[in-house]
Amino acid sequence: MTRHLITSAIPYINGIKHLGNLIGSQLPADLYARYQRARGNEVLFLCATDEHGTPAELAAAKAGKPVAEYCAEMHDVQARIADGFRMSFDHFGRSSSAENHKLTQHFAGKLQDAGLIREVSDKQIYSNTDGRFLPDRYVEGTCPNCDYDKARGDQCENCTKQLDPTDLVNPRSAISGSTDLEVRETKHLFLRQSTMRDQLDAWIESKKDWPILTTSIARKWLRDGDGLRDRGITRDLDWGIPVKNGDADWPEMEGKVFYVWFDAPIEYIACAGEWAAANGEDDAAWERWWRTDKGAEDVTYTQFMGKDNVPFHTLSFPATILGSGEPWKMVDHLKSFNFLNYDGGQFSTSQGRGVFMDQALDLLPPDYWRWWLLSHCPENSDSEFTWENFQQSTNKDLADVLGNFVSRVTKFCRSKFSEAVPEGGEYGAEEHNLITDLQVRLERYQDHMDAIEVRKAAAELRGIWVAGNEYLQTTAPWTTFKTDPDQAAAQIRLALNLIGFYANLSAPFIPDAAKSLLETMHIDAFEWPKHVAAALSILEVGHAFDVPEVLFAKISDEDTAAWQERFSGTREPAK
Ligand code: 2FM
Ligand code: ZN
Repeated sequence: MTRHLITSAIPYINGIKHLGNLIGSQLPADLYARYQRARGNEVLFLCATDEHGTPAELAAAKAGKPVAEYCAEMHDVQARIADGFRMSFDHFGRSSSAENHKLTQHFAGKLQDAGLIREVSDKQIYSNTDGRFLPDRYVEGTCPNCDYDKARGDQCENCTKQLDPTDLVNPRSAISGSTDLEVRETKHLFLRQSTMRDQLDAWIESKKDWPILTTSIARKWLRDGDGLRDRGITRDLDWGIPVKNGDADWPEMEGKVFYVWFDAPIEYIACAGEWAAANGEDDAAWERWWRTDKGAEDVTYTQFMGKDNVPFHTLSFPATILGSGEPWKMVDHLKSFNFLNYDGGQFSTSQGRGVFMDQALDLLPPDYWRWWLLSHCPENSDSEFTWENFQQSTNKDLADVLGNFVSRVTKFCRSKFSEAVPEGGEYGAEEHNLITDLQVRLERYQDHMDAIEVRKAAAELRGIWVAGNEYLQTTAPWTTFKTDPDQAAAQIRLALNLIGFYANLSAPFIPDAAKSLLETMHIDAFEWPKHVAAALSILEVGHAFDVPEVLFAKISDEDTAAWQERFSGTREPAK
């Protein structure tokens, strides 16, 4: 048994996420967590809401609510929706937790002790109209790197470059739109990450099996760009984690908070503390996942995120951890994703464009979305959601291939034998060929899942479903039955066993359907198959089953057209 710590990038609290966000981190992380658990491994799967910084403050102001109240409400909304998509988090925490306050202040203290923090009289944008400093997303303007004209003061979402508000060309206030801005001096703490270039370079180069997308972004900002220049880790904001040196006050930093991107990744660790506390466990319970001096040396840590998050996870967060000089577990595998586009353009939270997670669940059960998103995930390049493709793929894969197989087999058995595994005949050449083929496919499927090659894994799973259909077509038990009922019984016995086999293998992708297949087959618990031959003999003669209701209903042309029309505009950000 191996131990897997798995984290998904923690979504900003500012509203409900769209399907592009879901496939960029939470959903593939859930796939992997479910798979590792199914293989019998020990998993701690964590996610949380990212509650500080300008995104939270701006959204709360828009909703007309105090920011703490807004965050508490939105955390519950996001938790409920994540549950709707069957995210199997061991804990869904909050970056505003007491645990994260403590740990973030602890890291700042350690970095100070290590001489990695300098106090800087920094230049920040001040808005005369708004009467306040405008850090990060409080400023918008044109990206100096790619000319995108809606770049935000913390990062350009078009080219992923990390920015300072003063980098923007033609800056304007995100609160009032005012351009009556000036640059004022204010004191801040800077993390001296530029001194850690060699250490970070060596660490990144040691990661031989990272996906190219991850390594190329990390190298780009480490070497060619200025991704590693010293950056401010504090802000002039009210909402956030107060700047402290461990438990002690930090002179001249009263009223300032840590930068959201400083405390957000630390929440990965704090969230484990929240998980332990929520389960009545002590510190040792979470430290065995995070401290290499307290049991985490045999943990494999995998992070999931969109490509825009890669610089923070390969440079700034590792700089915090390495700089602390403490034995924290560092990431082993960093799986990043390109962007999912929406029907000829981009999904956009700020513009309300695309299908959002709550809306998707109002239309269809989670497995439809999970299957399409995972089997089309933007792994090697950006990919695109179109309603036609969604309709075609789900109808074909889920209804025609998997659903139809289950329906034909169970109905045929009921009509010619009974609602129990029939007696008679033996597995012959066709069956043994199928078993041999499926054994190869099972191993390939596992290899892809182990390597987190999501699309390849989905394609192999589809291939496994198709192989069952082809077997049914070739052997045609409904024809065999006319001349040799015993032989037909053996064929149906195999096919009924295949349903249980499919339930086990499909569960990480489509957990609800997998569960209902198990129930249909009166199988008590999931059990990952090792040998296909054994797995296809589990259901013995006489084992009862039910003929299921429709497993996956087809999506009609009318629905597709109506949904395309309905989601062609933009929606108001969630209240
Ligand atoms: O891009 C985002 O949605 C960020 N909230 C991700 C933060 S991930 C981590 F660092 F905590
Ligand atoms: Zn840009």
